[in-house]
Amino acid sequence: MTHKPIRKAIFPVAGLGTRFLPATKAMPKEMLTIVDRPIIQRVVDEAREAGIEHFIFVTGRNKGVIEDHFDRQAELEMILEKKGKHDVIKQLNDLLPGPGQTSFTRQQEPLGLGHAVWCARELVGNEPFALLLPDMLTQSPGDSCLKQMINNYNEKGGNIIGVEEVADSETDQYGIVSIKKGAENCWPITGMVEKPPLGTAPSNLMIMGRYILQPEIFSILKDQRKGAGNEIQLTDAMHSLMEMQDFHAVKHNGMSFDCGSRVGFLTANVAFALASPDLRNDFAKELRNLLDNLTSQAAE
Ligand code: G1P
Repeated sequence: MTHKPIRKAIFPVAGLGTRFLPATKAMPKEMLTIVDRPIIQRVVDEAREAGIEHFIFVTGRNKGVIEDHFDRQAELEMILEKKGKHDVIKQLNDLLPGPGQTSFTRQQEPLGLGHAVWCARELVGNEPFALLLPDMLTQSPGDSCLKQMINNYNEKGGNIIGVEEVADSETDQYGIVSIKKGAENCWPITGMVEKPPLGTAPSNLMIMGRYILQPEIFSILKDQRKGAGNEIQLTDAMHSLMEMQDFHAVKHNGMSFDCGSRVGFLTANVAFALASPDLRNDFAKELRNLLDNLTSQAAE
């Protein structure tokens, strides 16, 4: 059976980024850089690699620079042209979604992730879509994380949630799913809960911010009451949709970094620098020096 293709992706980018103040006082947290690219560029790259054709950003106040980032910069291109830096111009243009492939809408109040997704309903229309939370960055050895999920969707259809294992001590920070475990890396989901208090999580499989969802989620989100943290939670809406539709969990083959936390953000920078052929050797050397200094300081 063929399933409707996943053509559109939602990127909720309205969050304030208070954990990164003062860096995020005047700049959106999604524009913080991982090596040489804003976080949001890396998430859009993951979606493009998976074949996404339309990129829907749910923004808020002070996020205009994200829209500018995904546009051409004529003045800059002129200067680069004069300097003969054609390779840089090409690189910038290669990273851009094509004309008409981006849409921007606003979440006027920070009412929760479920509400942010609902704000994109008219732009998505009546078709299944991908949802990528920019707080989470992924690094995969082969297919991108979303591509791995789309491969499974093409077989199974329905709704797919990307999951990863976390320590028992961290289960209260995420949405957690319970599954019926099988041999492969794609399992039927039997339950889910948003940020369960420590010691009550049904498993340690966290929802890692990558989803493929059917459009019926929008009619559930429309009437949704507030849940954990007094916010309209996507996890609660998916839990309701589970009564009518299949949900599968796909375990991401690769690494993920929670860039909503400072440690996750710094670790992502190190991991992406070490994965970059032109930086790897020099950077690894500096990193080793720093760690050696730390060890010798500790020994004194
Ligand atoms: C959101 C989701 C949660 C998920 C997490 C991943 O939470 O509600 O289910 O595990 O993203 O980053 P938030 O980080 O917005 O609190």
